[in-house]
Amino acid sequence: MARELPELRVVENHLPRHHPGSQFRAGYVLRPRDSERGSDSDLAALYAPLILDGDENTGDVAAAVDSDLPLVRANFITSLDGSVTGADGKSGSINGPADLRVFQLLRAQSDAVFVGAGTARIEGYQDTDIPAGLQPLRDDAHPRLITVTRSGQLGPAFLAARPLIITAQGHPAASVLAEKVPADDLLIFGAHAVDFRAALRELKRRGYANILCEGGPHLMGSLVEHGLVSELCLSFSPQIVGGDGYRFMVGDLSPTAARLQVLLSSQDGYLISRWQLQP
Ligand SMILES: NC(=O)c1ccc[n+]([C@@H]2O[C@H](COP(=O)([O-])OP(=O)(O)OC[C@H]3O[C@@H](n4cnc5c(N)ncnc54)[C@H](OP(=O)(O)O)[C@@H]3O)[C@@H](O)[C@H]2O)c1
Repeated sequence: MARELPELRVVENHLPRHHPGSQFRAGYVLRPRDSERGSDSDLAALYAPLILDGDENTGDVAAAVDSDLPLVRANFITSLDGSVTGADGKSGSINGPADLRVFQLLRAQSDAVFVGAGTARIEGYQDTDIPAGLQPLRDDAHPRLITVTRSGQLGPAFLAARPLIITAQGHPAASVLAEKVPADDLLIFGAHAVDFRAALRELKRRGYANILCEGGPHLMGSLVEHGLVSELCLSFSPQIVGGDGYRFMVGDLSPTAARLQVLLSSQDGYLISRWQLQP
């Protein structure tokens, strides 16, 4: 059944001049859309990937971009007190329709969706379906699922989606999964710890140039620790949940500068931000 997703208002827009989303100045309203029929072309322009060409005249980041690596952007939602989960231990109880609108768009713009095995298990990942209205944004049906695991504890419903699975030679997953998944789907990079840089290079080689990391906090920490995330899409849910839910990055992190690109708001109080990370 069609579902109306709410309007979003541009609060800040610092996209570089040549970016297709730079035309939507503060105050612009992205009209509500029907999640099955609406194409959401304004939001797609606002979230078009940033080309990191290092050209100071265009306002892009002068980062040394390894062209062998995919662009990785991460998408998270957090409560005002910093938790990535509500009382039920899942993110579903802190997200809402405004956040869903961006969540679906980011998926539609990605070649692959990368989640840690913990998120795959807890959130019950089985597919990366795209609503019909966003299908024109892509050539294939939906993004490929990718995960990373030490244990190899992945359920049959998840494996049925044919995810690409990253692990290290010394992790139990390398043997646990050898019999369960096609050899081509098991990406073994690193001896005793996953070599994320090498794994991402392989993903780029296979054609996954734009990867969306949907968490969770341990995977995000590992990627940020290695300077592999170029963009963070972070939504703030208008609630304090208490409890001891994770923050959205867990790990041995060092200071990383971030530059605000876009800030959106919804009438029900969600704030939706897009940041460029400068590792
Ligand atoms: N609010 C949000 O936007 C959001 C988004 C995603 C998740 N979440 C929440 O976050 C919670 C899960 O947190 P989490 O940190 O446990 O999730 P996670 O990062 O998705 O999963 C952790 C698991 O992923 C694998 N993993 C992560 N980093 C690895 C590495 N460097 N090397 C090898 N394997 C690695 C391991 O799997 P094995 O255990 O199989 O070895 C590890 O136990 C859930 O409650 C979920 O609902 C919230």
